Amino acid sequence: VTRKMHFNAAHRVYQPSWSEEQNQACFGKCANANWHGHNYDLLVTVKGEINPETGFVANLSEISDIIKREILDKVDHKNLDMDVDFMTGKISSTETLAVECWKQLEGPINALGCFLHSVKLQETEKNFVEYFG
Ligand code: NI
Repeated sequence: VTRKMHFNAAHRVYQPSWSEEQNQACFGKCANANWHGHNYDLLVTVKGEINPETGFVANLSEISDIIKREILDKVDHKNLDMDVDFMTGKISSTETLAVECWKQLEGPINALGCFLHSVKLQETEKNFVEYFG
């Protein structure tokens, strides 16, 4: 069962131990010093048994509340590199952000009695990451 959420955030993909030239060669426009932003889609999939009383694997409004509390409230309209506690000191690539979103969600979702299956983070129309833990 999947819940799709959306947020906007700014970032800069930059390796501070490299020269400007190395950063430009590897990260291109994403290394822009004055930031840039993305409209991210975050798809959170949970798995489990169907509850015979509800017909649900999970109540999607509870899943939505967890995603809002653990991720959207922290990242939406924020700077991933400056404002987000769970991204501090990390390169804000889509890969790293997807892994950190998993870490935020796994405990609260498993506490509902279902299991986190995947986090899919779509950064652009062409680029997305799927993480399975
Ligand atoms: Ni970017």
